[in-house]
Amino acid sequence: MDINIADLFCGIGGIAEAVHLWRQPTASDNTVAAEHRQRITPKIGTAIDIDQSVAHLYQRHHGIIPQCSTIESLQAVSLKPTDSSRAAEKLDMWWMSPPCQPYTRRGLQRGDKDSRSLALANLIRLIPSERPRWIGLENVPAFEGSQHHQRLRQTLTKTGYQFREYLICPTAMGIPMRRKRFYLLATQNGKPLADFSCRLQQQPLAKFVDNDTWNDPTLHVPADLLQHYQPAMNILDIHDSTAISACFTSAYGKSHIKSGSYLRCHNRHLVRRFSPNEIANLMGFRENFFSSSELGQRSQYRLIGNSLAVHVVCVLLSMLLLND
Ligand SMILES: C[S@@+](CC[C@H](N)C(=O)[O-])C[C@H]1O[C@@H](n2cnc3c(N)ncnc32)[C@H](O)[C@@H]1O
Repeated sequence: MDINIADLFCGIGGIAEAVHLWRQPTASDNTVAAEHRQRITPKIGTAIDIDQSVAHLYQRHHGIIPQCSTIESLQAVSLKPTDSSRAAEKLDMWWMSPPCQPYTRRGLQRGDKDSRSLALANLIRLIPSERPRWIGLENVPAFEGSQHHQRLRQTLTKTGYQFREYLICPTAMGIPMRRKRFYLLATQNGKPLADFSCRLQQQPLAKFVDNDTWNDPTLHVPADLLQHYQPAMNILDIHDSTAISACFTSAYGKSHIKSGSYLRCHNRHLVRRFSPNEIANLMGFRENFFSSSELGQRSQYRLIGNSLAVHVVCVLLSMLLLND
């Protein structure tokens, strides 16, 4: 069964990358899970983002060009037919990762008074008329309790959805990176959704780091900057197998502190930033995700810092779709 997903606020396609991961057989797949995975084929039916700069990367990795529009202006979230005589095709699932600024402390927590939340408000308004079979949402933990959170819950309840909410950090899956996020899964099948019970052993940070990257001078932290900011910088020893990185934000590479961790190698007497590809590795994206991208390093940091923890989303996707 094909499942058409609308990747709303698609960015570089964290959910599309989770779909890619879904298709890879894993050592931990038991026979039942593997059979289910063969029976169900999620795919990205449409992707929408206001940011045109993601188009090339999205198309290269996920095979479709995202529609560049403002989500608040949509009258429907439907697939445009390839043949003009046919009606627009509905999408089975909506995945929404709206901007988090309306809910974060740095973003002043203006919630529904922040114009950046209009797009989510429009999608909530469209749910009763479009009734996608499955819905997923990701945001910062502070989204919980916001007016939009309440409005979404009320709309889902009134429209007959069963839903469950989760606060999950990739560390629960053994990934040495903090990124606690709020997730909501909703389905119309009336069956209760499962708990997120993944507890995996922590993997060493070195596994996600590329040794050649130490030679990239653009990533080295200059001595004067190090001297000034060191007390406030989160610097991890590459040889420490228990090291866990801080959450990488879209400001990494621009703000020297509170935007992510740095790496130290004593043998090399160096402190450096993580490369965008290394952060993408930690986020669960395929190897060398940004290699040969035309985007500058600063844009790559912004895009990966805004994206999704793919390992977590892949588990949530299976919990949602295999629940039927
Ligand atoms: C938190 S990021 C989502 C990242 C994405 N899901 C990923 O995996 O990379 C929010 C995204 O929403 C987009 N966006 C913000 N406001 C929008 C709007 N009004 N309409 C459409 N897209 C919007 C931004 O350009 C950004 O890519």
